[in-house]
Amino acid sequence: MIDFHRDHANLVNVALLVFVLLSTLIAVVPADTMQHNEPLPGMPVMTEAERRGLAIYISEGCVACHTQQVRNIEMDRVWGSRPSIPSDYHYSKQRMNVWQQSPSLLGSERTGPDLTSIGQRQPGEQWHLLHLYDPRMLVKGSIMPRYGWLFEEVDPAAAIGQVLVPVPADRLKDPRNKLIATQAGNDLVAYLISLKQAPLPEGTAPAVFLSSPGANGEAVALTAPDALPDGGAIFAQTCSACHQADAKGLAGAFPPLTGSTIVNDEDPTQMITIVLSGYDARAEFGVMPAQAEMLTDAQIAAVVNHVRSSFGNNAPATTADAVKAVRSTVAPTTALQP
Ligand code: HEC
Ligand code: HEC
Repeated sequence: MIDFHRDHANLVNVALLVFVLLSTLIAVVPADTMQHNEPLPGMPVMTEAERRGLAIYISEGCVACHTQQVRNIEMDRVWGSRPSIPSDYHYSKQRMNVWQQSPSLLGSERTGPDLTSIGQRQPGEQWHLLHLYDPRMLVKGSIMPRYGWLFEEVDPAAAIGQVLVPVPADRLKDPRNKLIATQAGNDLVAYLISLKQAPLPEGTAPAVFLSSPGANGEAVALTAPDALPDGGAIFAQTCSACHQADAKGLAGAFPPLTGSTIVNDEDPTQMITIVLSGYDARAEFGVMPAQAEMLTDAQIAAVVNHVRSSFGNNAPATTADAVKAVRSTVAPTTALQP
């Protein structure tokens, strides 16, 4: 038995061990996981001005009152079209400087509205400038502080070519002057306007293949009675937007289909169910939409077989009849978000 009563070294060592274990578990491992997240396809790269604006957002402490996270609950639907996923915070991979990592500004306090998609909700540059200059000019009773130091009064000649902040003349020290934002103010607004939730790619339904059996009611000569359409083509059109052409997925958004235990299961039922009714099992990935309405039984069998026999996967093939049997057991359509 370890003696904690007479040997203080034991006490210190155990406490140290617990400290190291906990820090690893709740700080080092998550931080390392973040490093492997990839951006969503089509997510714009931040401009220099937006990056500087991000730094102002951090230094002014906006995160004290504003979140940037859409949670997976009903009341958060107003803030975005889908719950936030780790890929949304890809920007934090680029460090602010050698010493500071970009914090991901999820925030935990919503004194003001969530800003995940403020660039979509409120794209007006002058609105943001005026709101930062004095929130109460636009929103009566707002408790957001003024950020007057992000602005300067200049004489009209110096304001040429600048975005003017449309304040009434009686707010200025000299009514002949104009109000413009400093570089920091303009950068902050550029950052705010850039805040738009990137949409998840949509899997598009493949065109009906003229060579597929019975398409458009034509009688087609078949080599084999149960010939299926081209699974590789369906994968490229429907699945690869998310799972990527090499099926390796995107960390933080879409899981890999290579080496997946679900894909390589002897019994294809779960995989077919996922393709038919969609899937949202884990918080670290987005939502997979149901394909039941978009793909026929034969198309699903073909794409399932393609995935199960490519990308290093190895599992027995299924048939259109098997898909039909699973389809009859799953709910017609799974309600997804609007
Ligand atoms: C003391 C809390 C507080 C701080 C600090 C704060 N805000 Fe706000 N903010 C609010 C409140 C409350 C509102 C809602 C009322 C309003 O629109 O003025 C708001 C509204 C906003 C809106 C409009 C949101 C919408 O959906 O219309 C933006 C944009 C915004 N704040 C940006 C910022 C930025 C940028 C900073 C940092 C420079 C900041 N806020 C700091 C409390 C705060
Ligand atoms: C709009 C994006 C999207 C499209 C299109 C899409 N998926 Fe998915 N898929 C996902 C997401 C996100 C998950 C993980 C959901 C979760 O676990 O929360 C997933 C999970 C899966 C899984 C489970 C993998 C595992 O190991 O957990 C399989 C199998 C799968 N998808 C197959 C397919 C096939 C086959 C297609 C094409 C017919 C397809 N997906 C199209 C987004 C998509």
